[in-house]
Amino acid sequence: MSYDLERLQSLTEVPTIAADRTKHFEEQISYDDVLLVPQFSDLKSRNEANIHSDLDSRRMLEIPIIASPMDTVSESEMAAAMSDNGGLAVIHRYNTIEQQAKLVHNAVTLTSGNGLVAAAIGASGDFYERAQELVASYAQVLCIDVAHGHHILMKEAIEKLKKRFGNEIHLMAGNVATLEGFNDLADWGADSIRCNIGGGSICSTRIQTGHGVPGLTTIFDCARSTRNAKIIADGGLKNSGDIVKALAAGADFVMLGSLLSGTTETPGELLTYADGSKRKSYRGMASRKAQEAWRGRSGTPEGIATTVHYKGPVENVLTDLCGGIRSGLSYSGSRTIKELQAKAQFIKQTSSGQQESSTHILKR
Ligand code: IMP
Repeated sequence: MSYDLERLQSLTEVPTIAADRTKHFEEQISYDDVLLVPQFSDLKSRNEANIHSDLDSRRMLEIPIIASPMDTVSESEMAAAMSDNGGLAVIHRYNTIEQQAKLVHNAVTLTSGNGLVAAAIGASGDFYERAQELVASYAQVLCIDVAHGHHILMKEAIEKLKKRFGNEIHLMAGNVATLEGFNDLADWGADSIRCNIGGGSICSTRIQTGHGVPGLTTIFDCARSTRNAKIIADGGLKNSGDIVKALAAGADFVMLGSLLSGTTETPGELLTYADGSKRKSYRGMASRKAQEAWRGRSGTPEGIATTVHYKGPVENVLTDLCGGIRSGLSYSGSRTIKELQAKAQFIKQTSSGQQESSTHILKR
């Protein structure tokens, strides 16, 4: 038997440990670690704050909020309601092509708002056929929805879809956790990019894999990009204050799962308990339950399934969130999101500062 010694050696060669592998040991931050410093304001009412945000040169959202592509958040009703309220929902892809195309079609007939409906696809398997059907059903935004988006399959998928649809379709992609990932996806052709890995409320990716970057650090990092792609701060946002921080750090949009979960427009039945309380299901798409419901089996889960309090119509939730965002702009003396980004002054807070920032009488 003869051996290719050179090849064998290359296979057993241990890569040299990079000298700078601890270069990221400086402090990384998430939403609760910082506050925005109030600044002089000449806004006489928070309604003077304009919170619109452009998806691209042809598509504008009146509110910077996008609903997550999850099977307990976004189907036809949520897509229509988000569109009616000036936002956007991404209809999830955990179904057959026909079922998803129907959900998109129904949403576009239901909505009397901006008419914008987005739909998710993967980066392998049937993604190309799915994309064509969704566009034929009037989806104007396609979201390549992959947990680790800085990936060769993402590059191939974006290039194939750009070649097919050009600028006719807005191409959203992700998720990424770094500036390098953001720049690569933008260079491959993504128009907007979902930023944050492992920060979602139902996410166990960091526990399962040891990988991720605190959410706000990712936004600050990606905001250093010179590319034109839009930044979507995705996951881990707990209240309108976090949304204001994400926008101030450089995000053009936020993507919300848990904050919109439990509303009337989410899929799934309303569960009524013996004490009269009402709840709805909310689950990660990589949870065991979601995977089993989708394809009859589960790999290693990277998410959990739970229930949340029923919140009523999503419009009420959006009204509260947008009121908070407008007030946030006013506290920084800003009339637009761009102005907020230019003026924002972040400070770090200590753990006692974090306590003081909460409604602490409840903890006494
Ligand atoms: P939330 O707004 O904090 O609830 O996070 C929602 C985001 O979590 C989604 O937009 C996805 O980016 C992400 N996500 C959804 N399902 C999973 C999962 O099973 N594991 C990890 N991340 C998930």
